[in-house]
Amino acid sequence: MPVSVLSKPDFPYLCLIKRAAERLLRFCNRQKDELNILITNDAGITEINNQWLNRPWRTNVISFTQDARGLFGDIVISWETARQEAENAGTTLRTRLVELLVHGVVHLLGEDHELGEEAARRMAERERELISYLLKEEIMADLCINVDHIATIRQARGGNEPDPVIAAGIVELAGADGIVVHLREDRRHIQDRDVRIIREVIKTRLTLEMAATDEMIGIAGEIKPDIVTLVPEKRQELTTEGGLDVKGLEASVTDAVSRLHHYGIPVSLFVDPETDQIEAAARTGAECIEIHTGRYADAENAEIQDREFEAIASMASLAFELGLRVHAGHGLNYQNTARVAAISEISEFSIGHAVIARAALVGLDQAVREMLKLVKG
Ligand code: PXP
Repeated sequence: MPVSVLSKPDFPYLCLIKRAAERLLRFCNRQKDELNILITNDAGITEINNQWLNRPWRTNVISFTQDARGLFGDIVISWETARQEAENAGTTLRTRLVELLVHGVVHLLGEDHELGEEAARRMAERERELISYLLKEEIMADLCINVDHIATIRQARGGNEPDPVIAAGIVELAGADGIVVHLREDRRHIQDRDVRIIREVIKTRLTLEMAATDEMIGIAGEIKPDIVTLVPEKRQELTTEGGLDVKGLEASVTDAVSRLHHYGIPVSLFVDPETDQIEAAARTGAECIEIHTGRYADAENAEIQDREFEAIASMASLAFELGLRVHAGHGLNYQNTARVAAISEISEFSIGHAVIARAALVGLDQAVREMLKLVKG
């Protein structure tokens, strides 16, 4: 594990710090190197400052350079001082922690503001560069296109055209960040062969949507998608009708998550924008949730849509605070996507039907490019 973060178990920003640290290592081209981060309190950092640097006082962040090959270094951050500094600066603890992490990383890169005015200016400039990189990474959500309905058209005649494999290639060439397929138990659209070949040919990421059954977990273990999204599945439904009841099925969802982790596959849980579901999702060990945007997309009037939008925005924020990556999807189209794409905690959208429907009229390349404009807006 290149990045390890040690903190008290209920520290809410653990995943956030790990994710930011991984991105920083990638930006510095040191993604293979090891970075250890300790989040401690004021007493802890004072003791470390005293013991290792002979400075018997409290501070906000300390970096220890490691000279050995493959080691980037160690960073210690006091969350208590970070919280105090955030309050003084009128910012959030989350922001301050990321600023301190960046400060620590820039020290590990060899900059030192204590070496004079010019060195301090250089260090501040490097910090700004890394922070703006992180902001850009956070702000620009990814768009992953679900190609199930290319397969729906193929299955209507039971032949082999159009091929979702070719569609996946066109989607990638148009600039999408990933491909999504839902392998249903009844194989009504995507077939096993589609998933296998798409896995082989695409250069971006493959998300496999599936029910948490033994059969599907076995298939995922063989095909190794980049991520699995667990969804509820009913044979009679036209499409996925609601989020997974993670709260009601917590034990079995947790078991499915750990079986997928055993294969090295990260897991996202498709959930309704409800506090109970998101808190339960965080307890299962899943890395990510996908917020079900169906109620927002299908709202009968503007008032209901506003209410559903608020639910998505506040649940995205809760999930982010709990250290989950936040995706969203279902029912999003060319009219309703831009509004949810402005929610900064959502890092990925999964959109299918609207794009494939438009593709039938204007072509898949154009349909994807138009949706990319809305998402990256
Ligand atoms: N996300 C999930 C979990 C889904 O099940 C679906 C539908 O397959 C989508 C996103 C995409 O929904 P739509 O086709 O309405 O864009």
